[in-house]
Order: sequence, then C-alpha cells, then structure tokens
Amino acid sequence: MRTIIVVGGSKGIGNAIVETLLPTHHVINISRTAPEVTHDNLTHHQCDVTKDALPEIENADGLVYCPGSINLKPINRLSVDDFKDDFEINVIGAVKAVQAYLPTIKKGENPSIVMFSTVASKLGMPFHSSVAASKSAVEGLTKSLAAEMAPTVRVNAIAPTVTDTNLASKLLRNDKMIDNMTERHPLKKFLAPKEVASMAEFLLSDKAASLTGQVFEMDCGIVSVKI
Ligand SMILES: NC(=O)c1ccc[n+]([C@@H]2O[C@H](COP(=O)([O-])OP(=O)(O)OC[C@H]3O[C@@H](n4cnc5c(N)ncnc54)[C@H](OP(=O)(O)O)[C@@H]3O)[C@@H](O)[C@H]2O)c1
Repeated sequence: MRTIIVVGGSKGIGNAIVETLLPTHHVINISRTAPEVTHDNLTHHQCDVTKDALPEIENADGLVYCPGSINLKPINRLSVDDFKDDFEINVIGAVKAVQAYLPTIKKGENPSIVMFSTVASKLGMPFHSSVAASKSAVEGLTKSLAAEMAPTVRVNAIAPTVTDTNLASKLLRNDKMIDNMTERHPLKKFLAPKEVASMAEFLLSDKAASLTGQVFEMDCGIVSVKI
C-alpha cells in the first residue's frame, strides 16, 4: 500500500483527498486541526506550516500540498503584508513541505507531488492580484521541480475554479451568489471537493505515469471556453 502525505487534509479539498485515498493508501495528514474522520490507515500530525517545524516522516510515496488563501480585495486595499501572507501559505509552505519530504519521496514507489493553483492565475479577474501572484509562483515551482526531479518524481498542479469549501464560503454565502457563480461557468456548475479529490487521486496514481510539469485547469469551462 502506498503512503501519501497530505498537508491540509483536515478540511475542504484536502479532506476530500484524504477520504478518497484512505481505503487504498496509508495517509499521513499534516494540519493545525485533525480531520474528523478516523481510520486505521490515517495518521495525523498537528502542525502550522507557517510556524512549526514539519514532522519527520520516514516513508512516503507522494505529497499533496493543500493550504491556500482566497484574499480578494482591490489593489489599493491590499497591503504588502497581505501579499507576503498569501506568499507564505501558498508558496513558502509548499517549498518547506517539498524540501522536508523530497528525500523520502524520491525513494518511494512511483513518486508524485500535487500542488494547488487557481483559475485566477490564467484568467485575469478583478481583486485577485495577491492570490494570483502567489498561485502563479506555485505554477512556476511545479514546472521547475518537475524538470529537476524527472524522471524520478512527477510534479503537477491542479488549478480549480470555485470549489464548495469553507475557504470559498464568502463567494457562495447565499442563493443569489450560488446562482451567479453557477451561471458564469460555461458548464453551469462549480466544483465539489470530491471532484477535485478524484483528479488528485489520478495524478498521484500510476494512471498518470506520463504526466509531469502540468497545471490542470478544473475550470468548468471558465478559462478554456467562451460561449
Ligand atoms: N475552494 C476554492 O474555491 C478554491 C479555488 C481555487 C483554488 N483553491 C486552492 O485549493 C487549495 C485547497 O483549498 P480549500 O478550499 O480546500 O481550502 P480550505 O478549506 O481552507 O482547507 C485548507 C486546508 O489546509 C489546512 N491549513 C491551512 N493553513 C494551514 C497551516 N498554516 N498549517 C497547516 N495546515 C493548514 C487547513 O487545516 P487546518 O485549518 O486544520 O490547519 C485545511 O485542512 C488551496 O490551495 C486553495 O488556494 C481553492
């Protein structure tokens, strides 16, 4: 059974990834709070990736880095500290996780790393300058690491559109906002965490053995299609 480290598996997309992987993988979760689910295949380490040293892990075959932010403000209301905070959680946290676990993962079975970007890196949207800057850095990190680690470790990113998690709750806080969000996507939907988890499961698996250095837009059409 392969072992996957999930940073940020207590909630949201990361939690859906943990639940998707648990029947067939050992999962090591790292987050500030524990996932609600308990399972013989699940180990939890409490850790704030922005402040604490990451726990030592001896064996693993894959890494998923989920923590991120949606800090949407006009540029004149974004402070330099907002940009630094977003960079810290989205990029530096991912760098720390990669540096801590790459030596272990490199020795694993068909090793794979999955990062999270956003559709806002490709599609310019008002008020997204801070998160788009950080997630564009995550995309650069993904591509560079994929080149550096080939052929041993595959590194890919998923760039989701709005996904129904706590992080996106401000964007989906009433029926009107939900209807607007549904309507603005060509596929007339947005994402459920389970859908994103299925993509992460695929990218971690041998079925994705030919894929590296790629950013997968899970966009319900909003980046790729104009109707
Ligand atoms: N939801 C969306 O609409 C959307 C859209 C585009 C991109 N994304 C990206 O997709 C990824 C997952 O998003 P999500 O909506 O699932 O986020 P979420 O609901 O906020 O979940 C984030 C996870 O990361 C953990 N986490 C946050 N800060 C942490 C820290 N300092 N140290 C350790 N763990 C930390 C949280 O656990 P604890 O609180 O227990 O620490 C939680 O398990 C993010 O990178 C986000 O930017 C999301």
